Amino acid sequence: MSATVNVNGTITDGGTASISVFDRGFLFGEGVYETIRTYNRLPFLYDRHMTRLRRSAARINLACPLDDAAVHARILETVDASAAEEDAYIRLLLTRGVGDLSYDPTTAPTPSLVIIVKPLPEVPAELQATGVAVSLVSVVRNHPDSVHPSIKSNNLLNNALAMQQALQEGTYEALMRNYQGDLVECSQSNFFIVRDGAALTPPLDAGLLEGITRNFVFEVGAAIDVRVEEAVLQDGDLTTADEAFLTSTTREIVPIVRVGARTIGAGHPGPVTQALLAELRRTAAVLSRRS
Ligand code: PDD
Repeated sequence: MSATVNVNGTITDGGTASISVFDRGFLFGEGVYETIRTYNRLPFLYDRHMTRLRRSAARINLACPLDDAAVHARILETVDASAAEEDAYIRLLLTRGVGDLSYDPTTAPTPSLVIIVKPLPEVPAELQATGVAVSLVSVVRNHPDSVHPSIKSNNLLNNALAMQQALQEGTYEALMRNYQGDLVECSQSNFFIVRDGAALTPPLDAGLLEGITRNFVFEVGAAIDVRVEEAVLQDGDLTTADEAFLTSTTREIVPIVRVGARTIGAGHPGPVTQALLAELRRTAAVLSRRS
């Protein structure tokens, strides 16, 4: 895999980059992260990602040692070093850092900041055209009194186990319920259905990651007169949905045409999903023009 990595300010290629085995990120998954993408080689919605990173970090009593401008400079340096022509996938990780084999945060006073840059894995146009199948898995999203789902935590085992079920079924994503049994989000993306022309997504208090793309879809919808609203969604809503889609930074909007054995709507990507995707891309291109 071709990657360029910045570990605490030092840039190397992915094969050489290393971090101590005593880093709490490695030992305990004790850290937070953001996945950012570029359009036109510029990190997209950077301020929103940093706001969420700091919020996630604060919730595990961790502080980012650099200000937003310094992190941005480090990201650009790493993107430039990657020398790739195409758009970039950027994973920004902030961990508790190196310390004793203990949970005591005071024994690991210096956080680690790692930036991984690699070519953006674009969603194949063919998948956008046909839509994808997802699995409705038995792994439930974290209880809000456990690792709160709004924390974009490096501790991703729950999500990984959910995705393993989807992979076993040969599907593209794992749709999860929350501990109350409501549909909530996917293992790496947010979830929407479309009914009667409106796009509906579970509310934040259902216990999910407040996706940057999810929030952007509210703005994109407003620009093209598509209602985008929060709504509690349950299994039965899959049967009455006209369309469904997922959203994430790297995947933008991907139409879902089947959930488990249920065909969604007519079984192909619908007009509302397609209009939202087109407008999202148009807006992203406008916001990413170089002056
Ligand atoms: N995943 N929900 C979960 C559980 C996620 O991990 C993600 C992001 C999202 C979508 O959030 P955003 O729109 O801010 O990317 C929702 C990223 C892409 C990842 O894990 O790499």
